[in-house]
Amino acid sequence: MKTIFSGIQPSGTVTLGNYLGAMKHFVELQEEYNSYFCVVDAHSITVPQDRLELRKNIKSLAALYLAIGIDPKKSTLFIQSEVPAHTQLGWMLQCVSYIGELERMTQFKDKSAAGGKEGVSSALLTYPPLMAADILLYNTDVVPVGEDQKQHLELTRTLAQRFNNKYNDIFTVPEVRIAKVGARIMSLQDPTKKMSKSDENQKAFISMLDDEKKILKKVKSAVTDSEGVVRYDKENKPGVSNLLTIYSLCSGRSIEELEQEFEGKGYGDFKQAVAEAVISVLKPIQERYHELIDSEELDDILDEGADKASYEAQKMLRKAKKAMGLGRVKKKK
Ligand code: TYM
Repeated sequence: MKTIFSGIQPSGTVTLGNYLGAMKHFVELQEEYNSYFCVVDAHSITVPQDRLELRKNIKSLAALYLAIGIDPKKSTLFIQSEVPAHTQLGWMLQCVSYIGELERMTQFKDKSAAGGKEGVSSALLTYPPLMAADILLYNTDVVPVGEDQKQHLELTRTLAQRFNNKYNDIFTVPEVRIAKVGARIMSLQDPTKKMSKSDENQKAFISMLDDEKKILKKVKSAVTDSEGVVRYDKENKPGVSNLLTIYSLCSGRSIEELEQEFEGKGYGDFKQAVAEAVISVLKPIQERYHELIDSEELDDILDEGADKASYEAQKMLRKAKKAMGLGRVKKKK
């Protein structure tokens, strides 16, 4: 059986973008793959976090993974910082990555441009080797992610190959898997920018835990255009096209079908229908989430996940240390 690994940062409540671009696919994929899903909290502290908020977001994300349908009997769900092998291998992979290639990462360029040199942690630069470690520890074959992670995945492949050539051929070189539709859900306020959970403008994203009223309000205030025609045209009508994508993914109906249904109708009716489709997807998830969030069941699942992940990760960490010559070989007694 092949293995998949994916991770999400608990830096705020996950958005509809995270769900449609990544999480939704995890649920289907866990049926055919040996699956690892991770709350990558060590990645989140590469930018400043409020301690209590972070704690809350970590558990909340774990509960959301389960609420969308991740089944702990089929998948291993765990928190990154509870499996120290991630940061250990992360360090070793930093030692095989070059400053130049890390500085070329778009995400680093974007985030560091916003922070200025003093406000940017060095970990923001060395974040991709940690992400590579997450993936390479589990002999991962496939990594399902949204489009924005493509460059990080390419670097993961490069680091795996470089390590294999230089030291010993121990890592599986993973494939990236990006959905054809929904891999880049855009901001509701600026449809040329991706929807992001860390956007300062709350109206730009739909959180997985937003109530009906909020969802309706956010969709109604989504930026569109003045043409008044519901038609998919990413170049010229990015706002409407984004809403059509969201609607299609939430309703299971094709974009062409939706265009036909709204022929001759205005954006008001269209936005109402989009909001209803989103609510119909999120409502049952939220109900399950509220049952789980303060339950012992959640802690038990995460304990078990951390044990299972640690066991597997340790095996690979031992191989990597041996390949690099770390530690010692004990004298036979
Ligand atoms: P993160 O936490 O930013 O996002 C989690 C997942 O959601 C996808 N995504 C989107 N998809 C469609 N439209 C959007 N607007 C959108 N925004 C986010 C992301 O592509 C991602 O799949 N570095 C990663 C976390 C990570 C990871 C890993 C992922 C750490 N280690 C190992 C895979 C494997 C990140 O920051 O994702």
